[in-house]
Amino acid sequence: MQSTRAVTLAKVPSGVPQPADFAVQSLPLPEVTAGKVLCRAQFLSLDPYLRSVLSGRHLGHSLDVGAVIPGSAVSVVERSAHDDFAVGDLVSGALGWQTLALVDGASLRKLPSAIFPSLAPASTALGVLGMPGLTAWAGITQLAKVTAGDTVLISAALGPVGSSAGQIAKALGARVIGIAGGAQKCAQVVSHFGFDACVDYKSADFLSALKAACPLGVNVYFDNVGGRVLEAALAHLALHARVVLCGLIDQYNADVRPAGPNLGPVIGARATMMGLVVYDFYPMQAAFLAYMQTLLQQHALRWLEDVSHGLESTPAAFCKLMSGGNFGKSLVQL
Ligand SMILES: NC(=O)c1ccc[n+]([C@@H]2O[C@H](COP(=O)([O-])OP(=O)(O)OC[C@H]3O[C@@H](n4cnc5c(N)ncnc54)[C@H](OP(=O)(O)O)[C@@H]3O)[C@@H](O)[C@H]2O)c1
Repeated sequence: MQSTRAVTLAKVPSGVPQPADFAVQSLPLPEVTAGKVLCRAQFLSLDPYLRSVLSGRHLGHSLDVGAVIPGSAVSVVERSAHDDFAVGDLVSGALGWQTLALVDGASLRKLPSAIFPSLAPASTALGVLGMPGLTAWAGITQLAKVTAGDTVLISAALGPVGSSAGQIAKALGARVIGIAGGAQKCAQVVSHFGFDACVDYKSADFLSALKAACPLGVNVYFDNVGGRVLEAALAHLALHARVVLCGLIDQYNADVRPAGPNLGPVIGARATMMGLVVYDFYPMQAAFLAYMQTLLQQHALRWLEDVSHGLESTPAAFCKLMSGGNFGKSLVQL
């Protein structure tokens, strides 16, 4: 019988996750029956929402102790009993943090050969050209409807969502300001991703630096963080600003949900706040990829990946992500 090596939940984390919250173990795999596809992982995706899954707080999803962590992966088809997939195809899907996964073919997506790997490596199907990129595109183009001349402020700006949102907003002619943790991250947001400025929320002069970076206020705030960063950003909303509430990473590690920020400035600016759930935009995947393909062809799209190596490195890499230590899209290469 075949087996897989998998990262499983050893215990539900309390606070910032620790490597001991996870186990790496061999698990048996059933036979490949009709409709199933056996996939060998090349890259595992580490995403902040998984922290909420571990606490049972992600859109009703939770996880039993001992279960395989249900992350996404880019894999190569090793055996197929599904007509749409052949051995050697590059696919992505919710394959879990494991070396081999046996799944229904219907749950897999083939990576389009027009893009992968001629325009971008397969790993980017988990970042700028995958779910995080789609989230960014949806927030900037479908919800906030950014246009030329807008000032757009984006938190967690060096991550795959923030950096993609910023690049798309730049391509649309906006002035783009990032918020990130630490001088080194802020420098990369500007130098690698072409933001007009980036403000360090960990610095003592954060509030005054933010004010200086957006003297006329912000037309769009794309929030990935919540908490005091959201509160600081709301103080700079221009009249009729649009706020996209995308993520709350500031509270994913909290055992008790903190009190919300003061929303008075939203009223004062007559602003609109919109909740973003990327799943709503999965039917628009083709439009998103066509748009990104154009940016790739214009050499107007970059990415940054924080890659660790080997399945055993996955728990520590996830803990690094959840304590802000990652520089760019967090991945594990197998
Ligand atoms: N709404 C949706 O459908 C949807 C879809 C995808 C992602 N999201 C959300 O989008 C946000 C960004 O996701 P991503 O994939 O691009 O990840 P990411 O930016 O790589 O996420 C990790 C980063 O979050 C930042 N961060 C801010 N406050 C933090 C805190 N208190 N603790 C730890 N890290 C903190 C850290 O960067 P700094 O050092 O710069 O703070 C850290 O490097 C997340 O909140 C995610 O849940 C939402």
